[in-house]
Amino acid sequence: MKTVGVIVGSLSASSINRRLAQALIGLGEGRLAFSFIEIGDLPLYNRDLDAAMPPQALRFKSEVKAADSLLIVSPEYNRGVSAALKNALEWGSRPAGQSVFTGKSGAIAGASGGNIGTAIAQQPLRNILSHMGVAVLPGPEIFLKVNDDVIAPDGTIRDEGVRKLLSGFVDAYVTWTARF
Ligand SMILES: Cc1cc2nc3c(=O)[nH]c(=O)nc-3n(C[C@H](O)[C@H](O)[C@H](O)COP(=O)(O)O)c2cc1C
Repeated sequence: MKTVGVIVGSLSASSINRRLAQALIGLGEGRLAFSFIEIGDLPLYNRDLDAAMPPQALRFKSEVKAADSLLIVSPEYNRGVSAALKNALEWGSRPAGQSVFTGKSGAIAGASGGNIGTAIAQQPLRNILSHMGVAVLPGPEIFLKVNDDVIAPDGTIRDEGVRKLLSGFVDAYVTWTARF
């Protein structure tokens, strides 16, 4: 079974994106082996530390390296990629020539409190991941407005239309990971 590292781009304890990640894991369990890769302890990336990276960065890099594929579930902050996620991507991409992302498959999804559902941030995130050599699932795309009626705080999906949408995404992702 392929292993999937799940990266949540929000550090909030009540993150709706972590909620969405739990829901996706629930739909994919048994077909993919998921584990969260945490990014909240990473210091701000500084290239002066490339030669002797801090233990948090080394831990992050080894967890990414160990995963066959990456599922990134992230909020949109100010119409862009969250700083926490971008910071983690910087650590993983360096030192030059030693990126842990190159050649992996991946998928992205996002939840927002508003109607845009992270669509604006996902496009640049696709560009960044493509630049880093991650083959991102082209579709279906998940731009979701999430509240308690859609996904409960424990990740239980409450909206049947959303369950169908997320199931289609997970099915496509399982097929996608098998290709790599
Ligand atoms: C700094 C900041 C910027 C935000 N910018 C956007 C935005 O550009 N688009 C959007 O749809 N929601 C935006 N929001 C609202 C988020 O969708 C909402 O806070 C959501 O709960 C964030 O996801 P999280 O709960 O996983 O942290 C922003 C929230 C914060 C805290």
